[in-house]
Amino acid sequence: MSPPVYLDHNATTPPHEDVLAAMHRAWSTGWANPSSLHRAGRQARRLVEEAREAVAALAGLHPRDVTFTSGGTEANNLAIERPFRLGDRGLLLTSRLEHPSLLACAEDLERRGVRVHWIEPLPGGHLPLDAFASVLARREPGEPTLLATHAVHHETGAIQPIPELAALAESHGAQLHVDAVQAAGRIDPALWRGAHSVALAAHKLRGPKGIGALVTRPGLPLHPLLRGGSQERGFRPGTLDPIAAAGFAVAAHRALHGGPERYATLRPLRDALEQKAVAEAARLGIQIDLTGREPRAPHVAHLLVAGWRGDELVAALDLEGICVSSGSACSAGTAEPSPAIAALVGIERARSALRVSLGETSTMDDVAAFLKALQRVLGRAR
Ligand SMILES: Cc1ncc(COP(=O)(O)O)c(C=O)c1O
Repeated sequence: MSPPVYLDHNATTPPHEDVLAAMHRAWSTGWANPSSLHRAGRQARRLVEEAREAVAALAGLHPRDVTFTSGGTEANNLAIERPFRLGDRGLLLTSRLEHPSLLACAEDLERRGVRVHWIEPLPGGHLPLDAFASVLARREPGEPTLLATHAVHHETGAIQPIPELAALAESHGAQLHVDAVQAAGRIDPALWRGAHSVALAAHKLRGPKGIGALVTRPGLPLHPLLRGGSQERGFRPGTLDPIAAAGFAVAAHRALHGGPERYATLRPLRDALEQKAVAEAARLGIQIDLTGREPRAPHVAHLLVAGWRGDELVAALDLEGICVSSGSACSAGTAEPSPAIAALVGIERARSALRVSLGETSTMDDVAAFLKALQRVLGRAR
């Protein structure tokens, strides 16, 4: 059986061979506990510190301010608690488009008494700056305030105006948290840096699963979610995995050096995929609407296929050897459509969503294979 055509790079990316080689080496030289003071521990520690430097360089911040986590979800959870740690009061500005790891935290804070202002997105999924500005202009002086959003949307690929939000937060004495999990290594870092805290995940950068980071501006304290150890300055207790760190170091280095340039080459592939999918479906009498609007990341196509359920399409395409998704991987397996897409286009249309996310290993042949399979699946049902 030939290997499947993998077009689900927003769910996760295949590990790069240099990442695998570094992790393989680390298994024999860096397996010890990185907190141990002896020589074996120090060898493991070195791997963790090299990763810290690579991740800080990617975020444009200082290695001292990198806190390793289990991934993007934990980094978002850790970030959003931070400004409200002195009591459940304050103001959070965010949106219903966020990844569930931010959305659920915001809903929880709202239940606990933090004022949450949900910013209404524009039709293409962008968040309007003036909506943030008008809420900030009306807030109580001195009220702890956090703006929290994504840089690149995990389903539509929409790019949010992060540099402008950072400047706005600054001018109002508020703070900004950016979920850069889908942005790092894919778009120009200038488009997602500049926040007070940034969430990253290694597995979206061809690194391993099980490791991510929250990187902050100098010296910002975190409110630990776990108790019981002094690792990561006490902000994230628990033994760190030096093998995963070795993989993250290589992945972060690759993401910083050439990542966005490699992703830029995917734009013509993605555009061809969208145009041909729409045209070929139209020939079968099926309407496909594209959710994405510029500015957006170059590798994501988000299709709404009228009369179809996204999860049925995913299953049918899987039988054809094509891996795509109908929502974010963390909500896969549930009958409900993605809450972010439901917030954008309504729950019924959200059920018809199909996300195709290209990545560094994608080729025009993969796009052609997807289009052929889609045509077969849609045609068969006619
Ligand atoms: C935008 C965004 N934030 C956070 C996460 C969560 O990251 P992780 O899967 O590493 O927990 C994801 C994962 O899909 C994501 O796309």
